[in-house]
Amino acid sequence: VALALVKGGRHVYLYGRRSKSVPPPLELVVGPSDEAPPWLSQVVVLLLAVRDDAIGPLAQSLAASKGITAGHTVLHLSGSLGREALEPLEGTGAALGSWHPLQSIADPERAAETFQGAWAAVEGDDRAAAAGQELARQLGMRPFRLPSTTKTLYHAAAVFASNYLVVVEGIAERLARHAGIPRSDAWSALKPLFLGTTANLAASDPMAALTGPIARGDVDTVRRHLAVLAAEDARLYRALGRAALEMAIKRGLDRGVAGELAALLHDPGAGGR
Ligand SMILES: NC(=O)c1ccc[n+]([C@@H]2O[C@H](COP(=O)([O-])OP(=O)(O)OC[C@H]3O[C@@H](n4cnc5c(N)ncnc54)[C@H](OP(=O)(O)O)[C@@H]3O)[C@@H](O)[C@H]2O)c1
Repeated sequence: VALALVKGGRHVYLYGRRSKSVPPPLELVVGPSDEAPPWLSQVVVLLLAVRDDAIGPLAQSLAASKGITAGHTVLHLSGSLGREALEPLEGTGAALGSWHPLQSIADPERAAETFQGAWAAVEGDDRAAAAGQELARQLGMRPFRLPSTTKTLYHAAAVFASNYLVVVEGIAERLARHAGIPRSDAWSALKPLFLGTTANLAASDPMAALTGPIARGDVDTVRRHLAVLAAEDARLYRALGRAALEMAIKRGLDRGVAGELAALLHDPGAGGR
């Protein structure tokens, strides 16, 4: 985030509890985590870019340092927590909230590019939300405001959209290996299918992009899948299948076929060895 902001012309100070290399032109000031950074009085917006469970203790330390004033805006970057995580700073008068880029960042050098066009959730006090919106726009992102009460549900959506997608591909790779595709080829073989699916998703939306036996109402294929899957895989297949069936019904799947599929997907005795 710091590197992308600097590339966008913003001045950024970094403070960390231990020395580590940061990409130029960034410079890291190192100091005790229970002390306020030396530049605190010179900044307006403070981003607490730490693990979720470190946000509360860090807010506590900042409150104890007496360095945070009503002129500050403090934002944390957690996707699942809201303004309440900064509760120790409540008495300072600072604007409090969160700023969550809805994008996964692994390589700092590519962050500025990765942020372009991504969305960013802002939440908290009006002044904090305004600062978050400005940050997002400077990075070429599209800000949107969330109520504090739905932050965790929003984060669960992000987990399904990104992390669980990876998990499902991991299961597909394992099943492909069990089907006889060599370990070295299993993911390569599945990759074009995966990329084709993401292209369909990118061109439309999940409802329109759903294909496969449940979307087609192919009851026999679903029954045969369940017969060859191990118990744990069959459980997951049924759970995802029920979600697929809900989408297929909304798309107009025949009620009778939907009923047969629902019985198959709900009954733990219907398959799995
Ligand atoms: N990475 C992403 O793609 C992404 C996307 C959206 C939002 N976020 C959010 O961004 C925040 C940071 O995530 P990250 O991926 O950057 O995590 P990270 O790579 O683990 O970095 C966390 C940083 O926090 C520091 N830290 C941890 N505990 C601390 C403490 N008690 N006091 C002071 N510093 C502490 C760590 O310093 P040390 O090296 O000293 O431990 C490290 O520099 C999280 O809230 C996350 O939800 C991340």
